[in-house]
Amino acid sequence: MTMEKRQYVVTGATSRTGNIVSKSLLETGARVRVLGRSAKRLEPLAQLGAEVCIVEPLDAEALNTAFVGVDAAYVMLQPNYIPDHPDFRGYQDRLVDNLGRALEQSGVSHAVGLSSWGAELPAGNGPVAGLHRLEERLGRIAGLNFLALRAGYFMENLFSLHLEGGALTGPFQPETKLPFVATRDVGEAAANALQALDFTGKGCLEVKGPHASDMLKTASILGEALGRPLLPYTMEPLETFRQKLTRAGCSDSIIELMLEVVESINSGRLHAQWPHSPEDARRMSLETFIREQWAPRIRLENQ
Ligand SMILES: NC(=O)c1ccc[n+]([C@@H]2O[C@H](COP(=O)([O-])OP(=O)(O)OC[C@H]3O[C@@H](n4cnc5c(N)ncnc54)[C@H](OP(=O)(O)O)[C@@H]3O)[C@@H](O)[C@H]2O)c1
Repeated sequence: MTMEKRQYVVTGATSRTGNIVSKSLLETGARVRVLGRSAKRLEPLAQLGAEVCIVEPLDAEALNTAFVGVDAAYVMLQPNYIPDHPDFRGYQDRLVDNLGRALEQSGVSHAVGLSSWGAELPAGNGPVAGLHRLEERLGRIAGLNFLALRAGYFMENLFSLHLEGGALTGPFQPETKLPFVATRDVGEAAANALQALDFTGKGCLEVKGPHASDMLKTASILGEALGRPLLPYTMEPLETFRQKLTRAGCSDSIIELMLEVVESINSGRLHAQWPHSPEDARRMSLETFIREQWAPRIRLENQ
C-alpha cells in the first residue's frame, strides 16, 4: 500500500478536528473522501482535491457506501445539541452502530477514533459515555486495527466562558485540573497516526497539551493576556450553568449529560489517566491559546 494510492475517509470532515485531519492527509498526496452534510461547507476541502461525499451521519446505508474501498478512516461522533433531538444518548448509540457496521462491511484495516479523557468509564461521565461505547464497539471488530484518541479538555471550550462582574465565571471547581488540548493538535495527532499507520490491534492514546490547568490558573493566564493581573475566578452554581445551556438552545437531554460530566470532573472521578508525554510537551500551550485566540475575543466582548 503506497502513500499515493492510499484511500482515506474522514467523517465529520468540517469539524475542528476532522478539518485538520483532512487537510493534513491531502497534503501528503493521499486520496481523501470527506464526509459531511453540506456540499457548501465541504467545498474548501474539494478545492484542495478531496472527494466530497454528502452523508447524514444517521443514514447507515449512505455511510456504508462512503466507506467502500477505504484503507483507513477517521471516525468521530458528531455533536448534536439541537433542541429537537430529545435523546442524545440514543443518537450517539445510533452513530456508534452505523460506524461499526460501515467499518465491518468495508473491511477497512485501520481506524482512528476521536474519543475523550474519561472514556474508560462506562457511565456517570455525561456525553463521554458515548465515546466509551464507541471504543467498545470498534474494539470488537475482528481484523480492524483501531486507535482511540482520548483527547483532553478542548481549549476551545473556554470560548463559552465569560467575564461576569469582573471575574472569569464557570461551572468548574477553582482547583480542579483540566487536561487542556487545542483541537488543532488533536487533529494533527490523528493525521499523524493515519499517515504512519503503525498501530496494530486495539489501543488508545491520550492527547493533551503541555500542561493541565485549573480555573484559578486559567483566569490568571487570561488576566495576564488582558493586562488585568490577578483576574479572579468565580464558580457558578450548577443551576446557573443549566440556565445558560438552556438559553444557548441545548436540548434537555444534553443539558443533563453536561451537568453530569461537570460534576464528574469536579469530583475528580473523571481525570486524565497518564502523565504528560514528550509529544504532549510539543503541543500548543494554554498560554499561547489564551493570548492568541481567547483573550482577543474577551477583549471584544468587554469593549
Ligand atoms: N469538548 C471537549 O472537550 C472534547 C474532548 C474530547 C472529545 N470530544 C469529542 O469531540 C467530538 C467533537 O469534535 P470536534 O470539536 O472536532 O467537532 P465540531 O467541530 O464540534 O464539529 C462537529 C461536526 O458535526 C456536524 N454536526 C453539527 N451539528 C450536527 C447535527 N445536529 N447533526 C449531525 N451532525 C452535526 C458538523 O458537520 P456538518 O454540518 O458539516 O455535517 C460539524 O462539522 C465529540 O465527539 C466530543 O465528544 C470533545
